[in-house]
Amino acid sequence: MTRSATLLDSPYRGTLGPNFLHGYASASYQIEGGYEQDGRGPSVWDVALKDMDNGEEACDSYNRWREDVALLVKYGVNSYRFSLSWSRIIPLGGKDDPINPKGIKYYSDLIDALLENGITPLVTIYHWDLPLELEKRYGGFVASGEAQERLLEDYEHYASVCFDAFGDRVKHWITHNEPQVFSMLVGGFLSKDTFDMNTDRWVLARNMILTHARAVDLYRRKYQSTQNGTIGITLNIEWCEPYDDSPEAIKAAQESLDIHAGLFADPIYLGRINPTIKALAGDSYPDFTPEEWKIIRGSSDFFGLNHYSTRWCTGKPMGDDPTRMKTFFGGTDQVTEREDGTPIGFRGHNGHPYTVPWGFHKLLHYVNDTWVKAAGEFRGRPMSIVVTENGFAGQDEADQSLEVIVDDARRQEYFESYLLKLVQATREGVPISGYMGWSLLDNLEWSAGYGPCFGVTHVDRKNGFVRTPKDSAFYLKEVFAHLTATK
Ligand code: NOJ
Repeated sequence: MTRSATLLDSPYRGTLGPNFLHGYASASYQIEGGYEQDGRGPSVWDVALKDMDNGEEACDSYNRWREDVALLVKYGVNSYRFSLSWSRIIPLGGKDDPINPKGIKYYSDLIDALLENGITPLVTIYHWDLPLELEKRYGGFVASGEAQERLLEDYEHYASVCFDAFGDRVKHWITHNEPQVFSMLVGGFLSKDTFDMNTDRWVLARNMILTHARAVDLYRRKYQSTQNGTIGITLNIEWCEPYDDSPEAIKAAQESLDIHAGLFADPIYLGRINPTIKALAGDSYPDFTPEEWKIIRGSSDFFGLNHYSTRWCTGKPMGDDPTRMKTFFGGTDQVTEREDGTPIGFRGHNGHPYTVPWGFHKLLHYVNDTWVKAAGEFRGRPMSIVVTENGFAGQDEADQSLEVIVDDARRQEYFESYLLKLVQATREGVPISGYMGWSLLDNLEWSAGYGPCFGVTHVDRKNGFVRTPKDSAFYLKEVFAHLTATK
């Protein structure tokens, strides 16, 4: 195992301060399993992944959550980000549908156990697993016209059930996870037969913003004064670097950031529609009404950031290859390798570019300079970034021997190099108040199945879901003990 000692050097001791939140993230459908247990209703993923690797059993966390809490304790974290399954809490999803007490109890027990162990819960209300019934009733998040109001009411109601049941103990809420991935990629995957990429992705994106804003508005009006928590949203941003000095490459990199991040961050933190989005979507993305703007602008108490890697933007047309993620990054090409063969970083799963710490460093400054400072001024109090996901997927890790899996040097190098940049940015004045590694467990990587392994814990799904910690878990334990030590 290669452990670089840099972060453990004495000048780094205590740099993040004792209140810095550090831990791991997960999501309900990716880890829980127990898909028919205790009254859970079907979710859209149960159908979409029926004949593929799916979450019917996942990591069996529904039954083994105590083991997961024990792992978190063993790993020395002070926080844990997990998501609630809408279909476990309201199996049919709608505002007039019955609530499932067993679903509430599951999360309530988990929250209690975390708190008893000094672990602060960060709770994602919606991490992509919509109750199937809502998809059938009105198309789920693609709802428009009259159906749109039904979606908004259903989401708001679901959020209120969560605040009522858990808000006495949960002080950090996240309404949505990665709405950009959800609207530009996942939505189309879930409703392939009916999804119109030209229009529906914009409908979906607007609905993500509106459901978020309505839940936040409700929280602030009805719950904030007694529950005293914070609420916000988590956005995904890969850093987009111009391939060269050409104007096309520079323009493409900016547009790519706009599509990723400006799509949501501009309305929420700046109170405007991002200009690239306006140009790209045209009439498919109508402006919000003044009443809507009132609840959208300033609707996040922190900047939740999911970040994994960096891409070079060439500015050259992407072509019609449907396997390229055109809608995700914009219409121009993204590469992970220069013509001379220099890769941007070494590769993770599915050819993703990977360890590119300088991209993270640039991004932290960009997020601060573009949104965080402005939003802080608007709200009259400073805001901070919470890194709600960051991690490394071992390629083919699942096929290795346990000995090799546990000795995860590349994951440690990834964490080490990214955390060095986080510490550097902190010292340069970027306000960062938390860091959640993705992920606590090797889990279901959605339609990519169980191949990509992001966990700091191996899960033997064939043999009783036995959990085995990887070395990175103990490495991070040591690092965070050092970085958050009281000087
Ligand atoms: C993004 C998502 O929030 C999560 O569900 C996914 O598994 C990881 N990042 C890794 O791709």
